[in-house]
Amino acid sequence: MTICNDMTLAAIEPDAGLAAALKLDRAGVIGEIRRSGMKGRGGAGFPTGVKWNLAAAAQGDRKFIVCNADEGEPGTFKDRVILTEWPGRVFEGMTIAGYAVGATEGILYLRGEYAYLRHGLEQCLAKRREEHLLGNDICGKTGFGFDVRIHMGAGAYVCGEETALIESLEGRRGEARNRPPFPVNTGLGGMPTIVNNVETFAWATAILARGADWFKAIGTEQSTGPKMLSVSGDVERPGVYEFPLGTPIREVLRAAGGEDAKAVVVGGASGQCVPANRFARTVSYEDVATGGAVIVFGPGRNMLDVAENFLEFFVDESCGQCTPCRIGNVKLLEGVRRLKRGECSTQQLRELRALGETMRVASKCGLGQSSPNAFLSIIEHFRREIPSRVPVTVEA
Ligand SMILES: Cc1cc2nc3c(=O)[nH]c(=O)nc-3n(C[C@H](O)[C@H](O)[C@H](O)COP(=O)(O)O)c2cc1C
Ligand code: SF4
Repeated sequence: MTICNDMTLAAIEPDAGLAAALKLDRAGVIGEIRRSGMKGRGGAGFPTGVKWNLAAAAQGDRKFIVCNADEGEPGTFKDRVILTEWPGRVFEGMTIAGYAVGATEGILYLRGEYAYLRHGLEQCLAKRREEHLLGNDICGKTGFGFDVRIHMGAGAYVCGEETALIESLEGRRGEARNRPPFPVNTGLGGMPTIVNNVETFAWATAILARGADWFKAIGTEQSTGPKMLSVSGDVERPGVYEFPLGTPIREVLRAAGGEDAKAVVVGGASGQCVPANRFARTVSYEDVATGGAVIVFGPGRNMLDVAENFLEFFVDESCGQCTPCRIGNVKLLEGVRRLKRGECSTQQLRELRALGETMRVASKCGLGQSSPNAFLSIIEHFRREIPSRVPVTVEA
């Protein structure tokens, strides 16, 4: 997959972040990450420094650093590019996190479909061990030991959710746990565990190498730093782009050659649909948040087809633990199909919307909480497309 514009990440000197971190004490490293304001790059946007601080303060005989490389969100492929182009940067970030929170064990949870990357990643790990960037007394720092192993996922989307991922790591079926307790206190094997996205670890190295002030100067006050975006769909130049957070959607489309788009779904199948008259909105945590997917739909696309496609995905991927998600996604899919056939009354449409809202608040994990997003935003913004298909009579 093409790297489409200049990447700040590519310009950061390898292992400069680790060297800088080891000159600080643990609190100093966490302080720098906190000051940078970085929020997690995997989608939920939790402040990374706060997470690391909680894990550092948590009590446990062992602590774990888990890199979430499950990347199952439809339309997202930037983690694959990072793992292909700069795997050392990800392991460096995990090592910095291990130093900061007092963990000695790291695990890269790799999406099953990315098995072909494993050989290269193992080679990178072996080289880092030879260079004393992993193992005991890393970079000559007496007493600091850390190593990473790779654990393969088996292709379930829900295993990207951090507690389902931990269940899977423990050898069980990947199902989300109740939270609290959170993994920072009670994670893998009941021990304090940090789960961060691939890109989050990569940027952590840049923050240590260049300083929190450098990172904060990019983006907006609430959304600091650069962000990798996977741009796909009806564009001339699909691929991975790096933009400062706060960049208007229109600018992303201009760079990728998708100016005539009818809509963009930001955040993948669980994200929201933004119509052309709102392309001034920005990719940021305070406006349109995303773990990295930007899927572009040209003028010829039927947005109900898009909603149907996404809902088919969620019906397949729901783990089935809780009713709002297990049944709700099936009902929304049936509803979209009725809308497409022109068999849905306005009352039924209202009920579908209410069902989607209920799923958002009543589902157990982020899968069911976010699966109605695209459907709800499509029927909100493309309402005019629906009446031509829907007899707007209320059923008796
Ligand atoms: C259904 C579902 C799938 C997810 N998939 C991923 C994923 O593939 N990669 C990822 O980093 N986070 C994923 N997440 C978010 C994780 O639960 C978690 O918030 C994230 O790994 C934390 O890392 P960050 O703070 O660095 O973003 C997913 C969440 C849900 C609900
Ligand atoms: S929301 Fe869906 S994926 Fe999450 S626990 Fe409930 S059924 Fe499983």
